[in-house]
Amino acid sequence: MHTEQIVRTFVEYFEERGHRRITGSTLLPPPGDPVLFTTSGMHPLTPYLEGRPHPLGRRLVNVQRCLRTTDLDEVGDDTHLTVFEMLGTWSLGDYEGPQSLDWGYRLLTEGLGVDPGLLHATVHGGDDRTCPDDASLRVWQDLGVPVELTEGDNWWDNGPVGPCGPDSEIFLWSGDTPPRSTPTRDDRWVEVWNHVMMRHRRLDDGSLVPLPQRNIDTGLGLERLTSLLQGKSSVYECDVFEPWRRLVPALWPLDEQSLRLVQDHLRSAVVILGDGVRPANTGRGYVLRRLVRRVLTVLWRDDPSRELGDLPEELVLHTLDHFRQDMGPGDVRRLLVEEERRFSRLLERGRQVLARPRFQGPLYDEDFHYLHDTHGLPRDLVMSLRQDRRERRESR
Ligand code: SER
Repeated sequence: MHTEQIVRTFVEYFEERGHRRITGSTLLPPPGDPVLFTTSGMHPLTPYLEGRPHPLGRRLVNVQRCLRTTDLDEVGDDTHLTVFEMLGTWSLGDYEGPQSLDWGYRLLTEGLGVDPGLLHATVHGGDDRTCPDDASLRVWQDLGVPVELTEGDNWWDNGPVGPCGPDSEIFLWSGDTPPRSTPTRDDRWVEVWNHVMMRHRRLDDGSLVPLPQRNIDTGLGLERLTSLLQGKSSVYECDVFEPWRRLVPALWPLDEQSLRLVQDHLRSAVVILGDGVRPANTGRGYVLRRLVRRVLTVLWRDDPSRELGDLPEELVLHTLDHFRQDMGPGDVRRLLVEEERRFSRLLERGRQVLARPRFQGPLYDEDFHYLHDTHGLPRDLVMSLRQDRRERRESR
């Protein structure tokens, strides 16, 4: 099944069960939301989870692009991407958790053909403020799906305050042996779908109060599910990455880990640009800047003559089309190249400044402040330039 077919099957399944499709939003969350980027399909729906009536009713379904920087260090493994798509469903004070889990199980097994023997679930085991989620536990036991009760892993919130609740996660076995162990003990169990019983609000003082309505918020990681359904061992091998896998290695021969990072970060940078963000030293623009700089650091490690201007237009167009963004590919490339020049000039300046005698010994906070405020050199860049210098000296 191709990504498009999986999306269609998902959306139609829920439409047949009374859900209305809403248009996914951009990566920019609505004003007042505590996060920099949309990290989950629920962000644009926060006011409705908190009780405002939604114009399309109480059952919703959509596809939402999301960006997570918390997972940045995990990018390059088999399952984490910076920008990814989430298929989502919501019950705004309508049906409850057991119904959502039951539909989830049936869609995966009957609609998408997943072997029921490859599934595992986890359920909130309770803590000092909340009871174990017995209703979800019973659903999985009745369906014959192995289930694990966890201590802290099955709770979802959108930051320190706001809507939250216990969740039940569905995992798919990705190993090449028969399934064994449990999701918390063996990471060959890949989490694909999270069903959150979103019925609490966390206040500033950390206490929980009931939301005006009992909601369900579910999110399914599209690239993860697709790669597993396509029998691939990593998200980079599913169909949406096909042009990247075909064109990038020919352009820049890289080891697999670096290749994944370059593909993930460049594709994410295109989407962020397409949503109107521009490189900057703070906020969203800085996330974009860091992604581009990480790419360049990897590319230039082996060959400083590599240039983002060589990025094939097909890759930019494919990404903009996939996310239905109307920015021109020429504009994306121009902004990437400008950013590349800026970084190259900054590196040059950084090398000159750090060669001064003052910066040969250990650096203190005041040095970092000076380097940042006077020369525009962020701490992580200073560290990596010093590391480069050390390595070059040692290899002489
Ligand atoms: N909000 C939950 C998550 O992001 C379910 O959509 O996992």
